[in-house]
Amino acid sequence: MTEPLIRHYGPRAYADHPPFLYPDYRSTIKRSPTHDLVSIVATLSETTGPGPVWSEIVEEDADLTTNAGTGGEAIGERIIVNGRVLDENGRGVPGTILEIWQANASGRYAHWRETAFPAPLDPNFIGVGQCRANERGEYRFITIKPGPYPWANHPNAWRPAHIHFSILGPALGSRLVTQMYFEGDPLLPLDPIFNSVPEHARHRLISHYDHDLTVENWALGYHFDLVLRGELRTPEEETEE
Ligand SMILES: [Fe+2]
Repeated sequence: MTEPLIRHYGPRAYADHPPFLYPDYRSTIKRSPTHDLVSIVATLSETTGPGPVWSEIVEEDADLTTNAGTGGEAIGERIIVNGRVLDENGRGVPGTILEIWQANASGRYAHWRETAFPAPLDPNFIGVGQCRANERGEYRFITIKPGPYPWANHPNAWRPAHIHFSILGPALGSRLVTQMYFEGDPLLPLDPIFNSVPEHARHRLISHYDHDLTVENWALGYHFDLVLRGELRTPEEETEE
């Protein structure tokens, strides 16, 4: 019998990830565990792959400017987000499934619970995309730059522009959920979610403008690599409420 792939991964490296309890990020006060964590043996559902549903992914899913299926294009600053999913030795992880979700150019999510922020919805933007990394671990999304948005964490709190990422490795248990930010964003030093990541690891969450990736007269390029394990691993981040 083939050994489950997940057993090749080491334990989570807590020194590079945010703590479960980070009081400045208010939601962690209620949802962080109050007891020691208990390790459980991985079962078949964690050690096998994402399954046939992922074969449904098509190229169009990676273009968030058009994947609303309306025939129209999303409004905003069109960007290309390109990078690699890497293992701890800098090798590309082939076939990784990447999912992203984000606010629109006005900072509003297309979600029924999103009612507090009086910013316009974009009928041509659903804010969700998927793609599969190629055999070298490379991925590419086309989207619009998300706007910052307010949240109720503290007075006058605003999230920096960000794109949420979920990456699924060769098994359902090998999943990384994180956020990508934009270099130079003035809101970054004020953001408790960004600041909950240990300082030495924060730069791994910031994408960089890449002029070689930029397409003339069409879109700006941003580069963002994700490292699943090892010293350069991408810190996990929790989703704000
Ligand atoms: Fe968000």
